[in-house]
Amino acid sequence: MVKLETIISLAKRRGFVFQSSEIYGGLNGCWDFGQLGVEMLRNIKELWWRSMTYRKDIEGIDASILMHPRTWDASGHTSKFSDPMIDNKTSKARYRADNLIEDYIDTLKRKGKNDLAYEIETKLNSAEEPLDYYKIIIDYKIPDPISGTCDWTEVRNFNLMFKTFIGPVEDQSSVVYLRPESAQGIFVNFKNVLDSSRQKIPFGIAQIGKAFRNEINTKNFLFRTREFEQMEMQYFIKPGTEIEWFEYWKEERMKWFVNCGIKAERLNFKKHEKLAHYANYAIDIEYEFPFGWGEIEGIHSRTDFDLSNHQQFSGKKLEYFDAVTNERYIPYVIETSGGVTRSFMAFLCDAYDEEDIQNEDGKIEKRVVLRLHPLIAPITAAVFPLVNKEGMPEYAEKLFLDLQKIIRVRYDSSGAIGRRYRRQDEVGTPYCITVDGQTLQDNTVTVRDRDSMYQIRINADNLKQFFLEKLTGYTF
Ligand code: GAP
Repeated sequence: MVKLETIISLAKRRGFVFQSSEIYGGLNGCWDFGQLGVEMLRNIKELWWRSMTYRKDIEGIDASILMHPRTWDASGHTSKFSDPMIDNKTSKARYRADNLIEDYIDTLKRKGKNDLAYEIETKLNSAEEPLDYYKIIIDYKIPDPISGTCDWTEVRNFNLMFKTFIGPVEDQSSVVYLRPESAQGIFVNFKNVLDSSRQKIPFGIAQIGKAFRNEINTKNFLFRTREFEQMEMQYFIKPGTEIEWFEYWKEERMKWFVNCGIKAERLNFKKHEKLAHYANYAIDIEYEFPFGWGEIEGIHSRTDFDLSNHQQFSGKKLEYFDAVTNERYIPYVIETSGGVTRSFMAFLCDAYDEEDIQNEDGKIEKRVVLRLHPLIAPITAAVFPLVNKEGMPEYAEKLFLDLQKIIRVRYDSSGAIGRRYRRQDEVGTPYCITVDGQTLQDNTVTVRDRDSMYQIRINADNLKQFFLEKLTGYTF
């Protein structure tokens, strides 16, 4: 499996992802998407948006990031959205206490001490309060990975929401938060969408947007960051139907990742042992990253937790009236909550491939290729003049301008043709079109397929039709 450092290095070298504010030494837990990264990110979001909102029972919205502070009291984030934090007095390193214990359990398992590992794991699964985590760390003498000492402070709860102030006065009454999940923007708009659309239960509301969490430890590139993007959908249902809808959405979301090209064997469901404060049942879709299995999307059964609390805190009725059965109730919710940026990393890792090929001189060389789904690849096609003379550049330039009306296309005329193919393979461009001597005689070009490296010759006038066929007909 590819190493994470290889992915990070490719991402930087080719303009997918840069460290945030790099010239100032970077900002921990924040990343910038470069010229190719932004295209790929937009493509992932577009495929999700299509799969969610190009159907009759789901509407899309785009709510603001700053929300009324009472939102977070009602949702439970002000009181419960915290992680247990512990400091080592010798190394001064700070950890999430549950992550420290989890890493220790992994170390024990690697050493074959499975009984002890399972004993600690059982205790960790039932830990809730800071003292529970502290007792595990002290009882099992879990050492600081840096100093090796057990010189620990007490465990304290640390709220993950970023605070700021709205307006010119910085006092308690002007505190607002950067949203820690996009979901609440959907809940507070439930009634607005219901009243302004013709939807009836069951129906969903989908949204893509930024979320912010002041994570204690960021790690593994885009996996745990402080600013990230989510693609979330809340599906409002009749109480009592949650099991059937949970199963439905669980399967749908898994299918989406597979249809977008992720290898099925690197995807997994994992049931939550520890539930978030809003959920009564939850499952993760996990991807096998170079550092191990990690959640990329959560499917949660949220009952009427959020709508009931918003009804209580706002004093506004958030019930649904079923005109057929004459019933009035607060809907239950099944939530699908995917990380755009975390999925982006999964797509990159999954697509990365290396193979030995023979170059034009007959020598064996390494080919790095991103086998991205054609609709996720940042560039769809590249156009090359074989040589920079005999009218080929002019022809290729014209073709490029024509094709860019329908697809994202790049023009490249520098270096040997083999090197140009390699450059496009490395960023996942599915098709390369070459204009050569024959083109000027019979108007045909070669089209090379990224994965098979097989070339076909087609009439340039048929290229638009070729791409229309290649880029449509997928289901998501
Ligand atoms: N609305 C429910 C919710 O936010 P979550 O499991 O906390 O649930 C959902 O987050 C998804 O958001 C995760 O599966 C992950 O993909 C992404 N995510 C959460 N925290 C993240 C972080 N610190 N960095 C990057 N992605 C994150």
